[in-house]
Amino acid sequence: MKPTPKTFHVKSFGCQMNVYDGERMGELMAAQGMTATDDANAADLVVLNTCHIREKATEKVYSDIGRLRKHGKDPMIAVAGCVAQAEGAEIVARAKVDVVVGPQAYHNLPELVAQAASGNAALDTDMPATAKFGALPARRKVGPSAFLTVQEGCDKFCTYCVVPYTRGAEISRPFDTIIDEAKALVDAGAREITLLGQNVNAWDDAAGNGLHGLIHALDRIEGLHRIRYTTSHPNDMREGLIRAHAEIGKLMPFLHLPVQAGSDRVLKAMNRSHTRDSYLRILDRVRAVRPDIALSGDFIVGFPHESDAEFEETLSLVDAVGYAQCFSFKYSPRPGTPAAEMTDGFVPAEVMDERLQRLQAHLNRDQAAFNAATLGKRCTVLIERKGKLPGQMLGKSPWLQSVHLTTDAQIGDLVEVDIVRADPNSLAGMERMRVAA
Ligand code: 5AD
Ligand code: SF4
Repeated sequence: MKPTPKTFHVKSFGCQMNVYDGERMGELMAAQGMTATDDANAADLVVLNTCHIREKATEKVYSDIGRLRKHGKDPMIAVAGCVAQAEGAEIVARAKVDVVVGPQAYHNLPELVAQAASGNAALDTDMPATAKFGALPARRKVGPSAFLTVQEGCDKFCTYCVVPYTRGAEISRPFDTIIDEAKALVDAGAREITLLGQNVNAWDDAAGNGLHGLIHALDRIEGLHRIRYTTSHPNDMREGLIRAHAEIGKLMPFLHLPVQAGSDRVLKAMNRSHTRDSYLRILDRVRAVRPDIALSGDFIVGFPHESDAEFEETLSLVDAVGYAQCFSFKYSPRPGTPAAEMTDGFVPAEVMDERLQRLQAHLNRDQAAFNAATLGKRCTVLIERKGKLPGQMLGKSPWLQSVHLTTDAQIGDLVEVDIVRADPNSLAGMERMRVAA
């Protein structure tokens, strides 16, 4: 039996939605009177908010539990997130943790912690649509750039992916609750809001307004200066959303639209339901209305049976697009997914390594070129934190590049800068004027 915790620490792994969920769990525990601590080893309760997307991410949770047991103060351990959803009671059996709570059930965390304090391991992996949002405390204190989950789950069932199993079916949060939360975030200090969803551009309401309708409504919130959204699926890229990139000044010129691979045969085996060409045509339409848009994507190399020639098609797609930044991964078989059964086509580790290196060389080259092309441009920067040097502040350009500048502007200020230096991973800006302080 462990005493009722007084202090807690939340550690989030994986995607931005986990960051959002982690913040909300923190707010929930603070509302119960617990105090947050930055030091996991000093906390009475540690929440590991886990990621199941690749094997490496999953294994991290077990090594973290081991480390906490060794260096921590024998805390109560709660495993939350997608590993909790996927492995459920197995985690209690394997690692003797106190609480296991899935991504749709974390509003019940206080009760689960109370149950664990009374000596019984507590498990909740129910998936009641959007119930949790209504049960969470209001947003009070956030940084200048905040996340807001508007959509969860996925019905696409790409053959490599666990998300449809861990996050459930696609659901959209109701319009009004999103607008209310956005206003609360702005009141709490947010200048930029990134709308989150596994398929964020599948967001819709009964009236069929689509994500662009929601963005138009957010555009009217005074004090909100920037809007972003991620992650989108090519098949949900509606005309209205594309046009929104031309119509709405607050909508930042950035689109994360994963393609995963460049070969139609591989895309079909992945069950992506778009082709190389249909994907490229979407990007053409987006670029037609917003020529400066920064494009981003995700790639998987070494999907089962991927041949050398098929991998070359991924490289040629990358060369054709010219991405501003991307994420790229080696295929990782996930239990329960169709691709994990394709064992006769598994690509050897050294081939995957080589493909990933080659892909990343192309992506790094294009990122450096994209950054170089911003040299001399004038743009706004939202200041997010202090830099390492005295007087230096760090923020983001509209195209999501990191920009450092010397300024007396404060966190949360928007400044207009000239880009005076472009490096492969960041830019330097020279302040021209304060846009909003
Ligand atoms: N192996 C490797 N990468 C994966 N992703 C999803 N599932 C897997 C897997 N089994 C990648 C995809 C997705 C991103 C979030 O993670 O590129 O877009
Ligand atoms: Fe996974 Fe595909 Fe759904 Fe994205 S669209 S979350 S890759 S199943």
